Amino acid sequence: MKFSSKIQKCGLSPIRKFYPYQVEAQKRGMKIYHLNIGQPDIKTPESYFETVRNFSAPVLEYAPSPGMPVTIKKVEDYYKNLGMDIQPGDVVITAGGSEAITFTMECILDDGDEIIIPEPFYPNYKTFIYNTGADIVPIKTSAEEGYRFATREKIEAAITPKTRAIMFTNPGNPTGVVLTPEERRLVADIAKEHDLWIIADEVYREFTYNGEPLATMGSFEDILDRLIIIDSVSKRFSACGARVGAVICKNKDFQAEFMKLCQARLSVPTLDQLASASLYDVDPQYLKDVNVEYKKRRDTVKEELSKIPGLVFSEPEGAFYVMVKMPVDDAEKFLIWLLTEFNDNNETVMYAPAGGFYKTPGAGINEMRIAYILNCDDLRRAIQLLGKGIEQYNARK
Ligand SMILES: Cc1ncc(COP(=O)(O)O)c(C=O)c1O
Repeated sequence: MKFSSKIQKCGLSPIRKFYPYQVEAQKRGMKIYHLNIGQPDIKTPESYFETVRNFSAPVLEYAPSPGMPVTIKKVEDYYKNLGMDIQPGDVVITAGGSEAITFTMECILDDGDEIIIPEPFYPNYKTFIYNTGADIVPIKTSAEEGYRFATREKIEAAITPKTRAIMFTNPGNPTGVVLTPEERRLVADIAKEHDLWIIADEVYREFTYNGEPLATMGSFEDILDRLIIIDSVSKRFSACGARVGAVICKNKDFQAEFMKLCQARLSVPTLDQLASASLYDVDPQYLKDVNVEYKKRRDTVKEELSKIPGLVFSEPEGAFYVMVKMPVDDAEKFLIWLLTEFNDNNETVMYAPAGGFYKTPGAGINEMRIAYILNCDDLRRAIQLLGKGIEQYNARK
């Protein structure tokens, strides 16, 4: 049977493909420290589960296609609190940030179009974009320059007559980079000058550690007609399984096109929307405490990584990831070796090899992404294991 060339251009998750090695290692009794997945371990606020338990309607109906009014209202209020002028119709609820991105791409990209994205980037962007027939043009960055991308030279080098949009994650997955106000302004200016959409994936907005206030691209009023913000409860409230996100866009034409897709998929799950709405009433201390915890983890990771010779990395400023260049030949081979041959008191460690976070073939070959979603003691041990692993791996020959 024939498959579409679009789906065949997509790949499976570069993070999940090492699962069989993990299973084999566990069968041998190995304990594995997971630095490879972005699933937060923080407790979801109890109100989520209470709302689900207290639901008592006799029929579980479809929700309205743009989202349930109570959920839309919470997201609208959240953005008003960030200083945006939010009007009815600017917020649409989606099945996670993932659906917000998928539908956005389907609305703005055609076969042969290009979208520019700084690499390394969140690998699922490839699937969302390739399925429209468009291509990704990466903005090149490097470990040595802290994976920063927002300079005029770098961005403009990627723009061609086929470019339709610039997309970026801020704070960055996998880089941990947080754009400065000047960098955000520059991206906004370039998008205006070249008449491009700006897709700001801000699902990690709450996770910044160097004292800067929460920053949204929505604070620039002169770009609101071309700005599409991707939002989600997944990371903010540690509610990844809720599958509730949102698109925020003040361009009425965009919202009219977007609604065609929303109506075709009928609705986002009713119970999850109701429960997600309750999350926005959580005591603001919850988000502050979570932030303090992640900052501690960030500092622990930084401290332990600094003790390993030959690593290149920069202090992550946000999200809960850090990209690290290692003194090994190939991060995938090294990971497989860690899972098949390395053993330190029956313990080993997993990370995400960074090749899959790049569009450019061969880029990131000796880089990894670490997700700091473990408690500080486990993080210390995991990174010490990495250090021992690098030493033994390189001493093998
Ligand atoms: C950068 C980025 N954007 C979007 C998503 C999608 O998240 P969700 O669909 O759970 O909202 C993720 C998930 O890890 C992500 O890392």
